[in-house]
Amino acid sequence: MNNITIAIDGFSSTGKSTVAKQLAKHLGYIYVDSGAMYRAVTLFAMQHNFIDAKHFDRETLVAKLAEVTISFTFNPELGFAEVYLNGVNVEKQIRTLEVSSFVSQIATIPEVRSQLVKQQQQMGKDKGVVMDGRDIGTVVFPNAELKIFMTASAETRAQRRFDELVNRGDEVLYKDVLHNVQERDYIDSNRKDSPLVKAEDAIEIDNSNLSLEEQFQKVLALVTNTL
Ligand code: C5P
Repeated sequence: MNNITIAIDGFSSTGKSTVAKQLAKHLGYIYVDSGAMYRAVTLFAMQHNFIDAKHFDRETLVAKLAEVTISFTFNPELGFAEVYLNGVNVEKQIRTLEVSSFVSQIATIPEVRSQLVKQQQQMGKDKGVVMDGRDIGTVVFPNAELKIFMTASAETRAQRRFDELVNRGDEVLYKDVLHNVQERDYIDSNRKDSPLVKAEDAIEIDNSNLSLEEQFQKVLALVTNTL
C-alpha cells in the first residue's frame, strides 16, 4: 500500500492533534504537530524578551531566526514525538496559556512561516505523514491525498482546553481560555500570510458532538477510502 500525506487543519483546540496522533500510530506514519513549532518560536521570543504583554520586537526576532533550531524526538513512553528548542525539551513549556496568548502574533510573521514551512515540507517529503495545523492542506502540502478540516463550537473547544490545562495543574480561568481561543481564531483567520481557510478539497468534520472514538472511526473511514 502506498503511503499518503494526511493534512489536518482547523481552529484552535478542535482536537486535531489527538486524532492525528491516533491515526499516525494506527498507520505507522510520522506525526508532526506544526503548532508546536510556532509555539517553540514564541517561547524563544519570550525567553529573549522580544515579546511580552506590552511590546513586540518583531525585527529583532526576525534577525535572530537563524538561531532557532526546532527538532522532534520520539518519546516511546508517551507514544509521540516531543518538541525541542535548540536541543532542550520544551514540550511542557510551550503549552501554557501565556505562550498561547502570543503565538498567533508570532505566526503572522512571513519569515517565521517560511522557515517553518520549509522544515515541515522536508519532514513530510517521503509521505507517510500526518501533520496538523492551520495551513497544511493549503500551503505546506497542497497536494496532500487527504485533507481534513476540523471544527467545533468555540465553547466546546475552550472547555476541552480548559480541562487539559487544569488537569496538568495550571491555574486558569475558563473565561480567559475562551477569550484566547476566540482571539487566536480571529488572528489566524485574518492574517495576510497563509490565513486559516478550509482548502477547497478538504473534508469538514464538526466534532462538537462526537466522542473521540466516533471521530477516529470517521477519519479512519476517510483514510480507507483514500488508500
Ligand atoms: O495547533 P496549536 O493551537 O498548538 O497552534 C498554535 C498557534 O500556532 C495557532 O493558533 C496559530 O497561530 C499557529 N499555527 C499556524 N500554522 C500552523 C500551525 C499553528 O499559524 N500550521
